[in-house]
Parts: sequence; structure tokens; C-alpha cells
Amino acid sequence: MIPNNNLNKILIIDFGSQFTQLIARRIRELGVYSEIISHKKLNSNYNRNQVRGLILSGGPLNVYQSKKVKFSKEILKWNVPILGICFGHQVITKELGGKVKKAKHREFGLAKLKRLKKSKLTNNFFNSNGQNNVWMSHADEVTKLAKDFKVIAKTDTSKFSIVENTLKKFYGIQFHPEVTHTEKGKTILKNFISSICRVKINWSPRNQKKMLIQEVKNKVGKSKVICALSGGVDSSVVAKLIHNAIGNQLVCIFVNTGLLRKNEEFQVLRTFKKKFKINLVYVDARKLFLNNLKKVTDPEKKRKIIGSLFIKIFEKYAKKIKNVKFLAQGTLYPDLIESKSVTGSQTSKIKSHHNVGGLPKKMKLKLVEPLRFLFKDEVRKLGLELKLSKEIVYRHPFPGPGLGIRMPGEITEHKIKILKEADNIFINSLKKLNLYDKIWQAYAALLPVKTVGVMGDNRTYEHICLLRAITSEDGMTADFFNFSKEFMQLVSNKIINNINGINRVVYDITSKPPSTIELE
Ligand code: XMP
Repeated sequence: MIPNNNLNKILIIDFGSQFTQLIARRIRELGVYSEIISHKKLNSNYNRNQVRGLILSGGPLNVYQSKKVKFSKEILKWNVPILGICFGHQVITKELGGKVKKAKHREFGLAKLKRLKKSKLTNNFFNSNGQNNVWMSHADEVTKLAKDFKVIAKTDTSKFSIVENTLKKFYGIQFHPEVTHTEKGKTILKNFISSICRVKINWSPRNQKKMLIQEVKNKVGKSKVICALSGGVDSSVVAKLIHNAIGNQLVCIFVNTGLLRKNEEFQVLRTFKKKFKINLVYVDARKLFLNNLKKVTDPEKKRKIIGSLFIKIFEKYAKKIKNVKFLAQGTLYPDLIESKSVTGSQTSKIKSHHNVGGLPKKMKLKLVEPLRFLFKDEVRKLGLELKLSKEIVYRHPFPGPGLGIRMPGEITEHKIKILKEADNIFINSLKKLNLYDKIWQAYAALLPVKTVGVMGDNRTYEHICLLRAITSEDGMTADFFNFSKEFMQLVSNKIINNINGINRVVYDITSKPPSTIELE
């Protein structure tokens, strides 16, 4: 988020934890503005006028790696409350004269916390037995308290799980209150920001929208920005946000690959071109995609052909637009967390992220990624604030290669046509029966085998339609949705009665893993 000097804030000092953005997100959920700064970048020039509290994140370092750990001792004199989480707890302890060592018993995963004393930080946090389940992830531990600190809670293997210096309002906790596995973890953060830092509620999707719009304006100036619009929630929110910021300096490119869901292209055109009057280049590339995919059956080949055609088209049309300096992408925080740290701290690299919009590297465009600190549900709230329809905002995810990876075997015009219809029947039935929003992703696919059936005393020999509906948090793991027999019967009947070419409907009952969500 961009610095804003008018809002009271909680400043989060990032020591490279995988969860730093999650801390910021929890603070936003509690209605308070927060900013993240890398421990490497915090120095005496930082304008601390609006800082009402500091949170020190966890991190992969060891407090005695003095060359790597940049700790500005000055913050201890800022006269604001400090909450150190995990590594943050250890680093304050060390700086204030306590000791940290490699733990005899490392704690990873759930641990039972036991209350020893009451504290403002733990109001309403412990159960009636004075206990709580918390989530730990540490190999080092505090072995000697810093001066004037007392112990509030411990676990069986760790003596200093919550500590505080009441007078200075410095707190240290060894567990992670920001993750959902810690029961009532948010209560700790709430107590810290409201009872201890006394920050007033000042944050909402509305001022988030305002700040992001300002950020885009500042970054882009008078240059033009291009954006690959897919109609999915992320690219839609980015397009609308940037349009609000710079109007006609934004040009969106929408490629109709022919592999979209039924009527998707009309919906995108209606929303973005007609309703919002966004500069939109519509490219009808249906024939090109179909021709290039003829007789291709290998899933990876399909993906590569679709991906590279998309880039070629995007580049071709983008080149025609003058003064383009920026490429807008709907990258979200979870896309980044596994590739690199966003603040420049040393989060361990897990994998490189892939993103359709990031592909035209040759074009040497600078990136505008205004959603890079947000999570999906925050993007959805922002979408509603930007007056995008609920239909777009709550749409299930749809893969870049579209229906191309939902029909194993050869892609033909006929198969696309019947698959679009089957998918439309399935999705509309989910919506009618209020099931759509309970499901993370659902779709119909067409299997590359025909089977025998009987309809009106006649033999049929037609395709199998596979239905998939899953529940998930983030698409990394998934379980199949449990439909009632009545619903399955209704959808199966509708598909078979309305679509020539399908005489059998099956439901995919595998989770991920071992299966993936898409078939190819
Ligand atoms: P899998 O099949 O890997 O899918 O379990 C996980 C999620 O990613 C979506 N997906 C894609 N999204 N481009 C995308 O933008 C792709 O190439 C792609 N492949 C899969 C999939 O729909 C699911 O939500």
C-alpha cells in the first residue's frame, strides 16, 4: 500500500516471514490501516508521526546473525506499543538484554498454551480453563527474559510463550496469531490494536479504493497502460480500478479464443465497453485457435499452443497502441508469496509464479499490479466497491486455456458447442438452487469416449459429460462437493434432454491431491 500520512497506522516491520501480509490483512479486517516495511529499509528518515503501534513479524533468521538482522534500536524509544511475533519476540528480547537459544524442543504446528497471568493482550483469548490451542513454527526460543518483562503464558516445552513489559507496552509472543490454526488469534491482534495501541477504526474498502487509485495515478503519470482482460474477477477489478484512475489512458485487450464459457464474450463487452465505457480492443481469434489446435491431443501441447497464440495476439495489438509504458496485471498476494518477498526481506523462495499477463517480457513494459498486497476475498470486496456486478465479482475461477483443457482429446467446434451448453446448464442449476456460492469452482467437461445409451427405444452412441464441483480455500487442495441425489438427477436429466451428443453424465469424486482440479 502507498504511504499515507493522514491515517493513524500500525507499522509492521517485516523480517521475511511468509505470514507478514497475513498480519497486515488481519489488521485491515479489524478496520485499521497498516503498512509494511522491511527491517532493512527502516531507518531514522521514516516519518513516524502517524504510527500508533509496531508489529515485528516472524522470519527465517537467527537473532545473532547480526549482519543480516537490521534492527533499528530507535524504535524502542518511539513511545508506541510493540508486539513481537515469533522471531519478532526473540529479537526484542535480545535487544533488551534477554537471551535466545536453539530450542531443546522445537515447536511446529499446534501447541497448548497455558495462562499464568492476566493481560490486556489476552482478554477473551483463553478458554475457561485458561488454555488455548495456538500454532507454532520456531526452532529458536527465548531462554532468559529481558529486564522488566513478565511471563503471561507458556507451553509444556517453552517457558516464555507470551511475555510483556506492562509499563512500556512491549509484548512478545512465540506463536502466530495471524494464522487461522491459532484459535482466536485475531483476538490477540484486536486487543493489541484497540486496547493497547488505541487506534480508531479508519480502514474500509472505500479508502482502500481511493489509495489504490492514487497509487496508480502516481505511478503511471500520463503514459498509457495495457491490460489483458479475461472477464475473471482479478483482471476485471484491475481494469476497473485503473480506469477509475486514468480513464482513457487504459486500453484493455480481450481475446476471444473460442474457448470461453457460454456468452462470456458478450458479458465482457456489455460490462466493460458499453456500461463502463472502457477502451477495449476485442479480438475475435476463434478460427485461429481452432486451426492451430486441430488434431492436437496432448494436454501440454494444447496449453503451449493456447498460451503462445495468446501472447502473439496480445503483442500484435499492444504494438498498435502509442505511448504504452505499462502492463497491468491482476497479480494477487498469494501469487507472489511463493516467488519472492514483496518488501525486499528474505522470504525463502518456494516457486516462481506464472501469470498470463506477465508473459510478454520482450515488450519491456513496466508492471502495474495494484492488487499485489490483497487476498482474493479482499479483491472481491474492492470489486463491489468499484461497482462491478456480483456476477463478475463472485465468479468461479476459470483457467487461461479455458474449455481447451476441459475436453481431453481433440478440440473440435462441435465439442466446444456441446460443452458450452452442458456447462451452462450445470452452472445455472447451481445458481438457481443457491449452491453456486457454496462451491469454490464447478464446471462441465467432455470426455473423449463415447458410450452406448438408449433413448426412446433407440440406441445412442454419444459423449460422456463429466461434472466437477469442489470446495477449497485456495485451489491448492480441494475436496469434491457433496450434492444431493435430487440435484444430480435434475442436472443429468437437463443435460441429456437438452443436448444432442451427450447420453451419459458422471460426477468426479476425487479430491486434490491426488487429482488436479482441471482434467488437463
Ligand atoms: P489445477 O488443475 O492445477 O488447478 O488443480 C488449480 C486452479 O488453477 C486453475 N488453472 C489455471 N488458471 N491458467 C490459469 O489462469 C492456467 O493455465 C490454469 N490451469 C489451471 C484451475 O482452474 C484451478 O482454479
